Amino acid sequence: MTVHVSRKEHFNAAHKLYNAAWSKEKNVEIFGPCANENWHGHNFDLIVTVKGEPDPDTGFVIDLKMLSCLIRAEVIEKLDHKNLNIDVDFMKGKLASCENLSVEIWKILSPKIRGISKFGKLHSLRLYETPRNYVEYFGE
Ligand code: NI
Repeated sequence: MTVHVSRKEHFNAAHKLYNAAWSKEKNVEIFGPCANENWHGHNFDLIVTVKGEPDPDTGFVIDLKMLSCLIRAEVIEKLDHKNLNIDVDFMKGKLASCENLSVEIWKILSPKIRGISKFGKLHSLRLYETPRNYVEYFGE
């Protein structure tokens, strides 16, 4: 019996999408307003889903309070009110897209979730950049 359990967290961050190997014109052509030199911001929502068998002692797959503390300490504090291109150590040298960000968040959270849950493991990350645009990552 596998149950999926999710926690949603929120952060605000600035970025720009810019490939330094390209001309300014090509960046604007590909990334549109997201290539704006002077940055822009998003209100991000991050949904972390853990799957597993409920622990017979608690009935929980994972303690959601512990999961929330973990996400905040390891990810949100490093991203909230930051510039993804400049301030965030694990995004250095990478294009500041939602796709790349979700892969890096996975690398951080996956081993730590195993540390706080006997039966649960990270199943998916869903990262909303806007209410209508999101990416999902399943660690593959
Ligand atoms: Ni953007």
